[in-house]
Amino acid sequence: MTAQNSRNILVTSALPYANGSIHLGHLLEYIQTDIWVRFQKSRGHQCTYVCADDAHGTAIMLRAEKEGISPEEQIARVKAEHEKDFADFQIAFDNFHSTHSEENRVLSAEIYKACRDKGYIATRSIKQLFDPVKEIFLADRYIKGECPKCGAGDQYGDNCEVCGATYTPAELKNPFSVISGATPVEKESEHFFFKLPEFQSFLQEWTRSGTLQDEVANKLAEWLDSGLQEWDISRDAPYFGFEIPDAPGKYFYVWLDAPIGYMASFKNLCDRRDDLNFDDYWKVGSEAEVYHFIGKDIINFHALFWPSMLTAAEYRTPTAVNAHGFVTVNGAKMSKSRGTFITARTYLDHLNPTYLRYYFAAKLSSSVDDFDLNLEDFVQRVNSDLVNKLVNIASRSASFVMKAGGQLSSQCAEPEMLQSFIDRGDVIADFYEKREFGRAMKEIMTLADRANEYIQEKAPWAMAKEEGREQEVLDVCSVALNLFRQLMTYLAPVLPELAQKTCEFMNLDNLQWDNRAILLGHTINKFKPMLNRAEMDKVNAILFDTQELLAKEAGTSTQKEDKTAAKKDAKKDGSKKDEKKAKGPATREDGSEAIAETIEFPDFAKVDLRIARIVKADHVEGADKLLQLTLDIGNGELRNVFSGIKSAYKPEDLEGKLTVMVANLAPRKMKFGMSEGMVLAAGPGGSDIWLLEPHDGAQPGMRVM
Ligand code: MSP
Ligand code: ZN
Repeated sequence: MTAQNSRNILVTSALPYANGSIHLGHLLEYIQTDIWVRFQKSRGHQCTYVCADDAHGTAIMLRAEKEGISPEEQIARVKAEHEKDFADFQIAFDNFHSTHSEENRVLSAEIYKACRDKGYIATRSIKQLFDPVKEIFLADRYIKGECPKCGAGDQYGDNCEVCGATYTPAELKNPFSVISGATPVEKESEHFFFKLPEFQSFLQEWTRSGTLQDEVANKLAEWLDSGLQEWDISRDAPYFGFEIPDAPGKYFYVWLDAPIGYMASFKNLCDRRDDLNFDDYWKVGSEAEVYHFIGKDIINFHALFWPSMLTAAEYRTPTAVNAHGFVTVNGAKMSKSRGTFITARTYLDHLNPTYLRYYFAAKLSSSVDDFDLNLEDFVQRVNSDLVNKLVNIASRSASFVMKAGGQLSSQCAEPEMLQSFIDRGDVIADFYEKREFGRAMKEIMTLADRANEYIQEKAPWAMAKEEGREQEVLDVCSVALNLFRQLMTYLAPVLPELAQKTCEFMNLDNLQWDNRAILLGHTINKFKPMLNRAEMDKVNAILFDTQELLAKEAGTSTQKEDKTAAKKDAKKDGSKKDEKKAKGPATREDGSEAIAETIEFPDFAKVDLRIARIVKADHVEGADKLLQLTLDIGNGELRNVFSGIKSAYKPEDLEGKLTVMVANLAPRKMKFGMSEGMVLAAGPGGSDIWLLEPHDGAQPGMRVM
C-alpha cells in the first residue's frame, strides 16, 4: 500500500455493560469488528480499534450493592474479566477503556454544555414510580405486578409475558418494587431532555447519506416519519454515573455518556501515542473515517441520538454505523432456560477460539439478519474447512520439503496458478471491505479446493517413491506451500493464531496483504500441528457447564437475557434501553434472593429428602466443575450423583460425611453418566459452596422433613 492511499480509520464496537460476562452473542460483534480491523491493518492503513466497558447505570449500582462492594470495585472486576475474555478470543483492541473515566467525564460535560448553551436541552417535571423504602425511582424493569389485561401475576412494568399486552407500570395491579418489595408511589421530579425533534431534518438527510445499511435507513425512516420525541437524559440520585454540570443530584442517563465513551477511549489512547491526534479524527471536516459496529438493538442510539448530539456539539459524525443481527443457538434465541446462554469463558474452557472466529466469519454478511450458531454444523464446518482443507495443504507438503533440506524450489513450477491466487486477492479484499465475510471465506475455500486438487493430482507421496523425481516432488510441494501462504494471508484477519503459526513454520515476518511475491529458494521451518479437529464432545461439555452455571446463578442474576425492542425505544424517548428486565427472582433489601412464592404442604411433601452418606467421591475426567459422589441412602441402596461442587471441596474431604439429598428427583442423563438425584448445598459458587450436614446421630436413609 502506498502512502498516498493509506487511510486513517477509527473503529469501535459497542461498549459491553460492566454488570455481566461476555457471551457468544457479544462475541459475534467483537469478532466481526476485529476481523475488519485486522484486514484494514493488513492492507497497510492506519486503523485504530477502541472499546471500553459501559460502566454506569442502576443495574451496575445494584449489582455492586448485592456483592457488597463499591461500584468502582465492581466495574474493575468486570473489566479485568472482560479484557481477559477478549484477549483469549484474539480481539486486538488498541485500547479498552471505561466510561467511568476522567476523559469521559470531561468530554460528557463538554458535549452536554455545548448542547445546553445552544438551547438543545429542556427541563421539566415528570411523574415516575418511586420506591419509598429504597428511595429510588424505578425504571420499568424494577417494577412487577399483575397484568392489567389478563391478571397474570409477576409481570414486568412494561409488558405481559403471558398475554403479550403492553402497558405502563402505573397500570399494573398490585405493583411492587423488585428491589425492596415495597408498593411504589408516584413522585414528581425534574428531568433534563435533549431536544431531538430539532434534528429531524438533519437526521432525515444523515440517515440517507450512505451512513447506514439500506434496511436500517428504511426502518429509521418509519420512525422519523412518525415524529421524534425529546430524549430524557437525566436520572435522579442515587445513580451510578456522572453528575450533570450545575445540577446537583441529577445524573446523566447511562446512554448519554456511553457513546461519548468511544471518544474518551480514543482520547485516552491519543494521550499515549505520538502518531494519533484526537482532533484529526473528531473535528468537523476531519478526513479520517469513523465506524461504529453495533447490534441491531441499539441502532436508535447510534443513528439518531448520537449523530444529533455530535452535530449539536460541533463534532464530526460517524462515516458509517454498521449494524449486525443477533446470534441464535440451534435456531432459538440464546436463553438461560434453554441453557444456551454460553459465556466466552465456558467456551474457552473447552474449545479453541479459532473455530468460532472462523464459523462467525463464514456466516457473516453485511446484513442485519439474525445468525444461527447451529452447533453440529459448527463442528462439521470448521473441521471440513480448516482442518481437512486448509491445514491439510501444509501438513501433507511440509515433510517432503523438509526431507529435501527445508528449502523451497528456486523456481516456481506453476507460476500461472500462483498468479491466479494472487489476483483473486482483489475480489477477496472487496468482500472484506464490505463486511461480506461469508463470501470472502467462500472465495478462499474455493481456492483451497483448487490447491488440494493440485496436490491430489500430482500425488507427491507417490512420486517420492520413484527414484530420480526428487526435484519434481520438491517443486510440487513448494507450489503447495506457496498456495498455502497466499491462503493464510487472506485468512489472517480471521485466524490470527494460525497466521502466527504459519509465520513460524514458513519463516516469515508477517502476512501483510500486499506482501505476496512468490517464495523462491526460501528456507522454512519444521511443520508443527496447527489445529486439532473440533469435537462434538467438547460442545456438549460446553452446554453442560452452561447449564450448571445457570443453575447456580438462577435467582441471583440481574443480567437480562433479551432486550426491549429498539423500535419501542426510539418511538418513545430511548430511555428504555438499559432498563432491562431482571429475569431472575427479586431480591431482598440485603441483596439476597427473595423468598419464593408460598407453597402448600403437599407440594413440599412431594420432595423426598434423605440423609445420605458419601461413601465415595471422585474427580470426573473432562469435567472442571463436577465431583462424582456415591451416596448410601440406607436399605443397601447406593446412588450415583454428579454435583457441581468441585470448586469448593476435595473428594477426600467428603468421603464418610453425611449430607442431605433429593432422593426422588428424576434421574438425569449427563455426558458422564446418569445422575440420580442431587445433594443440597448453599452459597454463591466458586469456593463459597457449603454442603448441608446433619447433626450427629442422623442415619443414612432417614427422611428429612
Ligand atoms: N452498553 C450497551 C452499548 C453501549 S455502546 C455506546 C450495550 N451493551 S451490551 O453488553 O448489552 O451489548 C453489547 C453489544 O453486544 C451490543 O451491540 C449488542 O447488540 C451485542 N449483542 C448482545 N447480545 C447479542 C447477541 N445475542 N447477538 C449479537 N449481538 C449481541 O448494549
Ligand atoms: Zn397479561
